[in-house]
Amino acid sequence: MKLLTHVLCLCLALALACADSHETHASDIPDHCHGLEMDAVAVDEDGVPYFFKGDHLLKGFHGKPELFNETFAELDDHHHLSHVDAAFLMHYEESHDHDHMFFFLDEKVYSYQKHKLEDGYPKNITEVFPGIPDHLDAAIGCPKADCGEDSVIFFKEHEIYHYNVKTKAVEEKEFKTMPNCTAAFRFLGHYYCFHGHLFSKFDPKTGDVHGKYPKEVRDYFMRCANYSSHSDDVEREQCSRVHLDAITSDHDGNMYAFRGHYFISRDAGNATLKADSIENVFKELHSEVDAVFTYEDQLHMIKDDHLFVYKVGGEHPVLMEGYPKSVKEELGVEGHIDAAFICEDHHIAHIVKGDHVYDVEMKASPRVINSEQPIALFKTIDAAKCDKDGIKVIVGNHYYTFESLKVLATGRALPEQHRVSQDLFGCDH
Ligand SMILES: *[C@@H]1O[C@H](CO)[C@@H](O)[C@H](O)[C@H]1NC(C)=O
Ligand SMILES: *[C@@H]1O[C@H](CO)[C@@H](O)[C@H](O)[C@H]1NC(C)=O
Ligand SMILES: *[C@@H]1O[C@H](CO)[C@@H](O)[C@H](O)[C@H]1NC(C)=O
Ligand SMILES: *[C@@H]1O[C@H](CO)[C@@H](O)[C@H](O)[C@H]1NC(C)=O
Ligand SMILES: *[C@@H]1O[C@H](CO)[C@@H](O)[C@H](O)[C@H]1NC(C)=O
Repeated sequence: MKLLTHVLCLCLALALACADSHETHASDIPDHCHGLEMDAVAVDEDGVPYFFKGDHLLKGFHGKPELFNETFAELDDHHHLSHVDAAFLMHYEESHDHDHMFFFLDEKVYSYQKHKLEDGYPKNITEVFPGIPDHLDAAIGCPKADCGEDSVIFFKEHEIYHYNVKTKAVEEKEFKTMPNCTAAFRFLGHYYCFHGHLFSKFDPKTGDVHGKYPKEVRDYFMRCANYSSHSDDVEREQCSRVHLDAITSDHDGNMYAFRGHYFISRDAGNATLKADSIENVFKELHSEVDAVFTYEDQLHMIKDDHLFVYKVGGEHPVLMEGYPKSVKEELGVEGHIDAAFICEDHHIAHIVKGDHVYDVEMKASPRVINSEQPIALFKTIDAAKCDKDGIKVIVGNHYYTFESLKVLATGRALPEQHRVSQDLFGCDH
């Protein structure tokens, strides 16, 4: 009730159309696909991005926002606040706060380790980060490799504070060309300033912004059914930071990659990527594919318990008669499938569920699991394909190439990490 009154007062104060006030109830769920201004963004210790808006938290790039007091209970106990100002992950092995998430609310700072509030917190910001002001706009960690010293960069209006974690020295800077950040985060080694529903990638030392910015936050960091009308489907899907659902290459080298409601494709011998909605081309699938592999020039696409088989090579993919069919009946495998692939000239589908891979002989009838083996290197994978270079395993924004299934299953060290956006799809930023 207190919150509702607060909202009403705010509404009056701003002289907004109060006829709408019933729609601005505090428990309204923010829609991350509507071009929101985030209050704060930070990754957790597993690298999952957390987006904060009002009293809600969105974990990862899609799904339903939840109340943040469900994950960070004490934020509510102490404050009854309806938002956070700034957040970042302290990721410095030498610091005793290594892998703690810090939240800033007005003049207070909260330190969480594995989602538990540290003893003694909340504290005044000046106790923990002397020289750093209250009511921050944004905060971002910047390690030695990028900032010269293990640092935290704090943003308040146009003021920038580089805070040295070891010496607690504060250096004030001016980022002349950069907009005021409303939220900021470091993701996969890049520094992003969110300003409203737009973002810019910046150099953490100088604040310089290179390239064509600002861009729309939701185009690169959200997974939505619809994007703004001026969103370029090809560039967005090529450069998105959101993980893929499924990927495959056929024997001729044509590639298809699926993410949410969209897919990108590239024909063999033509570097041009194309993008379209799944609904447009694979109408029966609609969206959100779990896994896809190519067998005898047909895309075998798995969504939940169903297998859809599309004939490709003609002008449009065509769903084969009788499909979708049950995955269990068609492949002899049950449950949620994460990824699937077939290597050239073989007839064995390798089906990945969690950290296990199951082999199914495609020529057998009925098809059953012939063997299974654990994968030591990954707890879960998003997508995988096999092509002339070997098996590409995609986890988040990265992929790894393995010479063979044997190497993938028995490997103990990760091979070289590649970026999906740059190295697989040729994104230039
Ligand atoms: C979180 O906040 C909501 C709304 O203020 C409240 O109903 C709920 O009980 C809180 N949950 C926890 C775990 O504190
Ligand atoms: C925190 O700040 C408040 C308000 O400025 C002050 O009253 C309080 O003494 C401070 N607490 C500590 C431990 O410094
Ligand atoms: C950025 O912050 C400064 C205050 O430091 C303020 O004068 C300016 O209006 C802000 N710019 C925007 C676009 O909000
Ligand atoms: C997306 O746009 C299509 C067509 O413009 C519309 O039919 C559909 O309802 C929209 N979906 C969402 C989730 O807004
Ligand atoms: C490559 O594909 C694009 C887009 O479909 C097309 O416009 C172009 O003509 C193709 N180039 C070649 C060499 O086939």
